[in-house]
Amino acid sequence: MPNPQLNAKGELTHLLAIDGLPREVLTHILDTAASFLGLADREVKKVPLLRGKSVFNLFFENSTRTRTTFEIAAKRLSADVINLDITRSSTAKGETLLDTIDNLCAMHADMFVVRHAASGAPYLIAEHLRRMGHDDIHVVNAGDGRHAHPTQGLLDMYTIRHFKRNFESLTVAIIGDILHSRVARSDICALTTLGAKEVRAIGPETLLPANLASMGVKVYHDMEKGLRDCDVIIMLRLQNERMNGALLPSASEYFRHYGLTPGKLALAKPEAIVMHPGPMNRGVEIDSAVADGAQAVILDQVAFGIAVRMAVMSILNGKK
Ligand code: CP
Repeated sequence: MPNPQLNAKGELTHLLAIDGLPREVLTHILDTAASFLGLADREVKKVPLLRGKSVFNLFFENSTRTRTTFEIAAKRLSADVINLDITRSSTAKGETLLDTIDNLCAMHADMFVVRHAASGAPYLIAEHLRRMGHDDIHVVNAGDGRHAHPTQGLLDMYTIRHFKRNFESLTVAIIGDILHSRVARSDICALTTLGAKEVRAIGPETLLPANLASMGVKVYHDMEKGLRDCDVIIMLRLQNERMNGALLPSASEYFRHYGLTPGKLALAKPEAIVMHPGPMNRGVEIDSAVADGAQAVILDQVAFGIAVRMAVMSILNGKK
């Protein structure tokens, strides 16, 4: 089946997931992001690549980092940005998602950035746009249910490449609630596509999906074994909002076994970096001494997110 994100020439037309995207497409996004990084230090931080275009931010779920950095990225590309206030929009009166999209198309939207609690919602919109003949309107998935968060995956890859220079020599551990994590799925797809030496998943049985081995991931239930010789550690939040019933005895018990403390971090390589997509729960999955420590690159991830989202939007618009 053809990848709905790519057109007949293999060019990116929507960004819905990392799955199925060739290595060259990922590398092109990362290289393009690198070309935007210096903008942040210029007096005028804007380029005209999306001048005259209308980008609609449709966040049906809460967000701090993703929504804000998409808005900054679109403005730095000179787009007009419309943040639909979902709680005050007509979806609150029962309008369907696709009726909302049709109305925004009538307002000449050029791009939709969509976060939704339902896995697959951005695919539904992309398919609807195709059926309605809106081939020039692009969809970017900003996180759908537990399925995918491709721009987070890309900014994580950008961060790793920035600090470690390559993927081929790296052992990367992803730790925590992988079962409910769209970030973990996107990171695993990106790391395996970009050729990481080893990808590990560490967590309790109840929070790890059954198909990790088929995704090329080594599974550990013991932090002490799993952290040994790691170059990169990606911590994840417990996604309580997506859990059906209690999957853990308590937060303090979880922290004792799977929280990243300075003592556990010392098991990884001394120059290992610590990442977290946010929002962090200090004292649940990560100790403040680690979150604020010298090895943490968590705020660098946020800053790189602007350049990566600029890259995605400019490539979709055919300008890079
Ligand atoms: N990482 C991430 O998606 O954060 P937000 O929920 O704040 O957007």
